[in-house]
Amino acid sequence: MLEISLNSKLQDVVNEIADVSGYMWERGWAERNAGNFTVDVTTLLPADMKLGNQFLSVAMPISQPELAGRSFIVKVTGAAMRNVAKQPKKHLLLITIAHDLKGYHVLWGGEGTASKPTSEFISHLKIHQYIRQNDMPLTTFLHTHPPYLIALSQIEKYLHENIINHLLITMHPEVKIVIPDGVGVAPYRCPGSEELADVTVATLKKHHVILWEKHGCAAVAADIAEAFDYIDIMEKSAKLFFICKSSGYLPQGISDEQLDEIRGKFQIK
Ligand code: 13P
Ligand code: ZN
Repeated sequence: MLEISLNSKLQDVVNEIADVSGYMWERGWAERNAGNFTVDVTTLLPADMKLGNQFLSVAMPISQPELAGRSFIVKVTGAAMRNVAKQPKKHLLLITIAHDLKGYHVLWGGEGTASKPTSEFISHLKIHQYIRQNDMPLTTFLHTHPPYLIALSQIEKYLHENIINHLLITMHPEVKIVIPDGVGVAPYRCPGSEELADVTVATLKKHHVILWEKHGCAAVAADIAEAFDYIDIMEKSAKLFFICKSSGYLPQGISDEQLDEIRGKFQIK
């Protein structure tokens, strides 16, 4: 089967994906094959590219009309982030969705028909559909398993958005500054299911960062490094809380006055 050679802009995206995949492994967010991502790279490919039988074609799991003709780099299901970091081409696919939405073409990456997109592909597709429908300047959906945020989502009290956001905002001043819309909480749904996709899209309407109850965290962003940073800040905040608690202290947290000062200085509503 034919495959394309990456131009320098696509190669930059692949390099950034490899770097971020390595960071997630080093952070302990990516046991075994945990986590996945899609990066919309449509604008980095020639608009008039001919797509036909010369590329491997695979049926689509769902039809998302806004995604006709769009191209994505996606993690291969089962691939470990530590291996994406070392051998990105083997563990990534560059795909273009056919204009009739019946299938996608594999332009680059993977190891033939054995390499399929992430098991969370339906969530990724529905999220990119939402991003395109709303003309949002975002390319990336990233999902990972950061332990302190997942631990918080195991505690019933913190499944309420106002309570978890108050905690995360008051543990670390950067949270309010970098993620003013806070974290959204998507109720538990089976991994890989369309139900998980639907609760994620519903939560995305108000938040860039989403906790998947008892499973992981996800973020939409302009690029994969930004998505990583959003989750990293939230995870640091959750970790600080557990460090205080496990050393026997109740954290003081940032006061309401200090929060007001941050809102004023950074013009946050
Ligand atoms: P994949 O290897 O299929 O991407 O699954 C990882 C994961 O985290 C599922 O939620
Ligand atoms: Zn997962």
